[in-house]
Amino acid sequence: MRIMVDESGRKIFFDPKKNKKDMHTYLGIIRRSDIIRAKNGRTIKSHTGKKLKVFDADFRDRLKHLKRGPQIITPKDAGVISAYTGIGPGSRVVEAGAGSGAFTSYLANLVRPSGKVYSYERDERFYKLAKDNLSTMDLSKYVALKKGDVYEKIAQKNADLVFLDLPEPWNAIKNAEKALKPGGYFVCYLPTMNQIIRLIKALEKTNFEVFKVANIHEEIWQARCDALRPVTHDFRHTAFLVFSRLF
Ligand SMILES: C[S@@+](CC[C@H](N)C(=O)[O-])C[C@H]1O[C@@H](n2cnc3c(N)ncnc32)[C@H](O)[C@@H]1O
Repeated sequence: MRIMVDESGRKIFFDPKKNKKDMHTYLGIIRRSDIIRAKNGRTIKSHTGKKLKVFDADFRDRLKHLKRGPQIITPKDAGVISAYTGIGPGSRVVEAGAGSGAFTSYLANLVRPSGKVYSYERDERFYKLAKDNLSTMDLSKYVALKKGDVYEKIAQKNADLVFLDLPEPWNAIKNAEKALKPGGYFVCYLPTMNQIIRLIKALEKTNFEVFKVANIHEEIWQARCDALRPVTHDFRHTAFLVFSRLF
């Protein structure tokens, strides 16, 4: 995927897997071959002579262009999950449900090149969506996407992390325990406090130790020197995070 930036800073995205023809834009026609051949940061011109700088898209650019299905996990939560579990290159992670494949992509990007993400999704539509999005992200080879229900079975063993973004994680505690290595992490992402209470009550009867319940807030400021202040927006609750560890 590539990004073209015009002289006013406006951006055009180009995915060679999906854009098979020259692009017809507000700047005129931009030749597909020019976009593909341009070196990172070089300038090309449309047929009307308008200049565009061409850049290689990075992980974040690709993520913004994924097809959306179920609600995705946002960077503010993704960053904290990886920081508190120490997931990195070589890690083995079990995740469910894959949904839109957004968090699967974060995980795959962290564990590659030698690690693996085993991602379960029980709904056929979202299984296909996640598969398609992982291909757009160029991350399919680091993910084993499984059509399955984690309340019934998790086939993996010796995982470093089991992460669940689904409504009733207490139904998967036994399977998570069997899938984890000793000392492994079990993290759940839940929108309501009612779910948190039910999960913690269930975890108290097991070998999992809950070490953190967190609600991560992000305050975004507008980057304008003449009016440096928080962006005006409604407060958006995403979900709470429950971190536990198998001891
Ligand atoms: C909110 S979405 C996950 C979004 C995902 N974390 C992302 O960032 O794109 C929840 C998904 O869990 C799936 N799901 C619910 N219960 C499940 C289960 N028991 N096993 C596997 N998948 C399940 C749903 O079909 C849905 O696609």
